[in-house]
Amino acid sequence: MSENLAGKRILVVGGARGIGADVVRRTAQDGADVVVATRSGPGHVRIDVTDETTIARAARSLGTFDHVVSTASAHHDVPLPDLEHDKIQAAFSAKVIGPLLLAKHFAPRMPAGGSFLFFSGIVGWRPKAGTVVKGTANAALAALVTHLAVELAPLRVNALAPGITDSGTWDRLPDERRLALYDGAAAASLTGRVGTLDDVADAALWLLGAGWVTGETVHVDGGSRHR
Ligand SMILES: NC(=O)c1ccc[n+]([C@@H]2O[C@H](COP(=O)([O-])OP(=O)(O)OC[C@H]3O[C@@H](n4cnc5c(N)ncnc54)[C@H](OP(=O)(O)O)[C@@H]3O)[C@@H](O)[C@H]2O)c1
Repeated sequence: MSENLAGKRILVVGGARGIGADVVRRTAQDGADVVVATRSGPGHVRIDVTDETTIARAARSLGTFDHVVSTASAHHDVPLPDLEHDKIQAAFSAKVIGPLLLAKHFAPRMPAGGSFLFFSGIVGWRPKAGTVVKGTANAALAALVTHLAVELAPLRVNALAPGITDSGTWDRLPDERRLALYDGAAAASLTGRVGTLDDVADAALWLLGAGWVTGETVHVDGGSRHR
C-alpha cells in the first residue's frame, strides 16, 4: 500500500505545465505541501537544472523536502549530421546532469522516507532515427537512478518512463502532425491509445508513496515497448 502523501513537502521542478503541473495538482489534492520550481521563476521558485547555482541556492533557502520531482527535458531530435554540440549538452544537462545535481544538493537535507522521482521516456527503449540524443539521455537516466538509489539509500530514487502522452507538450506541433503522432503511438501501443495526464500522474503518485521501490524505472506506456 502507498504511503499517504498528506502533509509531505514536495518540490516539483517543471511543475508549471504538462505532466509536472498535473503532479502538482494531484499531490496537492492528496494534502501535500507542494512547491513549484520553474526556470523563469516569477510566482515560483527559480530552478534551472542546467545551472547548479540555482539548484544550490534553492536547496539552501527552501528547507527540507520529503520528495523532489523533476520533469525537466530539452529536445534535440534531428538526424545525426545536424546534431549541434551545445544542444546535445543541453539535452543531457536537463535529463541526466540536472537530476544528478538535484540529488547532490537536496539529498543531504531529506528525511528518512524521502525520495526522488525523475522523468525518462519510452524513446530510451525504442531506438529510432533522429532521436539518438533523447533516447540515450532517457536511457542514461534509467542507469542514473540505479546508481543514486544505491548511493543515497535509504532515500529512494526512481524514474517514470512515459510513452507518448497528451500532456500539452505536443500542442506545439501543427494539428496534422500531432494527430499523426498520436495515431501512430496509439497503434504502436498494446492498449490502442496514447497516455493521458492522469495515466502518468497515477503512476507518479504511486511511486512517491511506494516505500519499498527504489532504483526502478517504471514504464507507463500502454505496453508500447513490447510491440
Ligand atoms: N509527453 C510525452 O509524450 C512524454 C513522453 C515521454 C517522456 N516524457 C517526459 O516526461 C517529462 C514531462 O513531459 P511533459 O510532456 O510534461 O513535457 P513539457 O510540457 O515539455 O514539460 C517539461 C517541463 O520541464 C521544464 N524544464 C525544461 N528545462 C528545464 C530546466 N533546464 N530547468 C528546469 N525546468 C526545466 C519545463 O519548464 P519551462 O516551462 O520552463 O519550459 C516544463 O515545465 C519530460 O521529461 C518528458 O521528456 C514525456
